[in-house]
Amino acid sequence: MQRTVTITDSATGKTVELPVREGTAGPPVVDIANLYRELGMFTYDPGFLSTASCASQIAFIDGDEGILLYRGYPIEQLAEKSNFLEVACLLLYGELPTAGQLRQFEERIRHHTMIHESLRDFFKGFYHDAHPMATMVGVVGSLSAFYHDSLDIHNPEHRETAALRMIAKMPTIAAASYKHSIGEPQIYPKNDLSYAGNLLHMMFSVPSEDYEVDPVAEKALDLIFMMHADHEQNASTSTVRLAGSSQANPFACIASGIAALWGPAHGGANEAVLNMLSEIGTADNIPKYIARAKDKQDPFRLMGFGHRVYKNYDPRARIIRQACHDLLAKLGAANDPFFELALALEEFALKDDYFIEKKLYPNVDFYSGLIYKALGIPTNMFTVMFAIARTVGWVAQWMEMMAEPRQRIGRPRQLYVGKAQRDYPA
Ligand code: CMC
Repeated sequence: MQRTVTITDSATGKTVELPVREGTAGPPVVDIANLYRELGMFTYDPGFLSTASCASQIAFIDGDEGILLYRGYPIEQLAEKSNFLEVACLLLYGELPTAGQLRQFEERIRHHTMIHESLRDFFKGFYHDAHPMATMVGVVGSLSAFYHDSLDIHNPEHRETAALRMIAKMPTIAAASYKHSIGEPQIYPKNDLSYAGNLLHMMFSVPSEDYEVDPVAEKALDLIFMMHADHEQNASTSTVRLAGSSQANPFACIASGIAALWGPAHGGANEAVLNMLSEIGTADNIPKYIARAKDKQDPFRLMGFGHRVYKNYDPRARIIRQACHDLLAKLGAANDPFFELALALEEFALKDDYFIEKKLYPNVDFYSGLIYKALGIPTNMFTVMFAIARTVGWVAQWMEMMAEPRQRIGRPRQLYVGKAQRDYPA
């Protein structure tokens, strides 16, 4: 029997029965698509606290249990056994690749790592102190002016080529943004390196010297990239879907995702964590900042704490917390005063009643920033790192949406609270 939810308008007594749809996991959803037709009403849910915007097979989060699955596989198992490009393949195509399929996928990614020579000139147009995320938004958006051979979005092969191009070119563009900001020449990709290794090479090598990728850094980056690859319908992914729903150019859609990611409430948090720790300065200032975070009159928030969905713990944070400790020990940085401050803040907040009551736990970005810092990645590149990894999720979600036979433009409604209709003064 079809499960339904009945809504009655107390003003008119009119009743409507709405079908309930069950997913594979997670709470069922009330299908309200016919609500306006039946009852002449919209629903109101600012911030989408209770609204599923689409059906998706890509990722699943259980915020109460602290579960994150990519195509059904727990993030903990992937962190232990997989790697970023295999995870990318899984997210894009739905199944873990065979060894041969993975090799083929890696080759296709390698094939697209370079960017058009004219595009390399774009970086010069940005002022030297431009934030690398600003450069990313601009340059990724301008990919839409190139690569016209993959722009028929109704053709699945074109969509796939555009998706692979974006995944492949993102590290090249990210590294070029960084090189521009420090006044060093752009470095071409080296395709015998891994995905993370190539990024490190393009960021840190210079034409005049040999450079060897540090395997510890390469492994740590690959792990963080896996953690960040997808996170279902978050702000930036929803932005990409909404932009894509108008059948916009895919490169422009990803640029819109990068813009949404940049905010400190989302991907910008990893950079904000480091800035906050610098501001706190020393452990004896922690109580003062905790008090500020609790004060409703003060806009200050403890960056790297809290999550819209995870109300128990963030499983990604648990994985990279351990990786962070291991890495700091390996690099001999565990006694660095900055890291000691971070760990003291973590300990203090986890014992504080306000943070316990509101279920505010350190999220993935509390630790990812610490790892990036330990690897020598500059603070203003942290969110760019996130964008590189999340590109996989964005393109996977975009491809899923574009393949839907009943794909329609996204068009939210509103509760209008402005002036009622009135006449222009005579
Ligand atoms: N510090 C202090 N108070 C907080 C914090 C925080 N970091 N986060 C939430 N709260 C309080 C908030 O003031 C509110 O209190 P009250 O109920 O008294 O009004 C309550 O907790 C619920 O917060 P909310 O803003 O309604 O929760 P949300 O689900 O809308 O926001 C969030 C989630 C992640 C935007 C928020 O927790 C936050 O701003 N955290 C800091 C930024 C951050 O670390 N973001 C990275 C998220 S993980 C990476 C990603 O997926 O993008």
